[in-house]
Amino acid sequence: MPHDMMADPAARHPLASRKSAGLTGRIAVPGDKSISHRSLMLGATAIGETVITGLLEAQDIIHSAQAMAAFGAHVERHRDGTWHVTGIGTGGYQDPVGPVDFGNSGTGVRLAAGLIATTPVAVTLTGDQSLQKRPMGRIIAPLEQMGARFEATGDGRLPMKVTGAGDAVPISYRLPVASAQVKSAVLLAGLNAPGITEVIEPVATRDHTERMLEAFGASLRVSERDGARRIAIEGHKELTATDIQVPGDPSSAAFAIVAALITDGSDVTVRDVMLNPTRTGLIDTLLEMGADIEIANRRVSGGEEIGDITARTSALKGVTVPAERAASMIDEYPVLSVAAAFASGRTRMEGLNELRVKESDRLAAIAAGLAANGVDHKTGPDWLEVTGGANTIGGGEVVTHMDHRIAMSFLVMGLAAHEPVAVDDASMIATSFPDFAGLMRGLGADIAEQDSWR
Ligand code: S3P
Repeated sequence: MPHDMMADPAARHPLASRKSAGLTGRIAVPGDKSISHRSLMLGATAIGETVITGLLEAQDIIHSAQAMAAFGAHVERHRDGTWHVTGIGTGGYQDPVGPVDFGNSGTGVRLAAGLIATTPVAVTLTGDQSLQKRPMGRIIAPLEQMGARFEATGDGRLPMKVTGAGDAVPISYRLPVASAQVKSAVLLAGLNAPGITEVIEPVATRDHTERMLEAFGASLRVSERDGARRIAIEGHKELTATDIQVPGDPSSAAFAIVAALITDGSDVTVRDVMLNPTRTGLIDTLLEMGADIEIANRRVSGGEEIGDITARTSALKGVTVPAERAASMIDEYPVLSVAAAFASGRTRMEGLNELRVKESDRLAAIAAGLAANGVDHKTGPDWLEVTGGANTIGGGEVVTHMDHRIAMSFLVMGLAAHEPVAVDDASMIATSFPDFAGLMRGLGADIAEQDSWR
């Protein structure tokens, strides 16, 4: 396993950005994070060798790769950049030696907990300081019903000891929160439960787990009743290894797209971006705001629609983003808030309660970042209003609270703001988009260590 991909978590890394001339060029962003986690986990469970092309090589994913190896799968990176995973079969996981650490990744730990919950392994799962604050009760509740036992810290936090069920019980579970992680944990647990395990989701969330389970030959049925999606999986079936091509991550492309929209004289194309409709809420919103965005070359690759997205400098206007759209752009609110700061009028975002339990309390972190940079805004328990258009914003130092998306979003703000914008710690960007600064600089973005400008 390549340890050189893991940065030193103790090293704080301040970074700043400042007003840049037009951003221009054509880039590809790294592979989708959600699909990368799932390809390693299903590969580790399947019979045979899964070859993954375009895997996101970022800390969150390396933690998942290491975890799958700890549970007994063979995981290897070849020199051509492909990842080869030889799985151990449904129910084949072994007891790891020592705790398994998922770093900053909620997706990694929650999906892995589901995967092992119906196999009799005993393991302690843990993560970094940010992940230790995030709620695990949402997966503990259904997985306990399936027979797993959990000894969590405090009110359902990491570190937590998991003892998988030797005699698992299938369940029908209605999601109390719109969460693809919880849905996925239950479906993955269902792989090694007898009979049919069902998840009912009143609000559709990203469907990568369902798509990939089908690609690996799982017996899955998706239907809709009374406006809710029902996903049923039949357990005790072996998965068959299948090759995966990971498309570009729309959540990473979002930073270059918004940067181009708000920076004068910009014309940027991000190619091969995944356009799965459960992930494109930001694009829909930006188009409503008047963004000059074009999508070309739409095609299907690896079971997902992809395309090339071009964004040019635009006069944005404020809009209301309805709560129903939140699931399809849940990770994009930080960067949408930055776009809103440059839009004329008011942008209101509703249904943001889940932002409170992300890598940071994102609603609070966004609000503090906007305040530090003089952007007019208001927040409530689950909403945010940003009044944009002023040309004097910037000049603030943003506290990132170990949240990669807060760091990248406010670095994007600095590219178009009147005054530079600094972030106290950009090191967490390595969890999802290690070459963010390099790629943005390649487009003409002025992002640097603050001291280098003095
Ligand atoms: C993810 C689901 C979302 C998202 C996260 C990735 C996934 O989390 O925020 O970045 O890959 O399933 P929730 O399920 O908590 O909404």
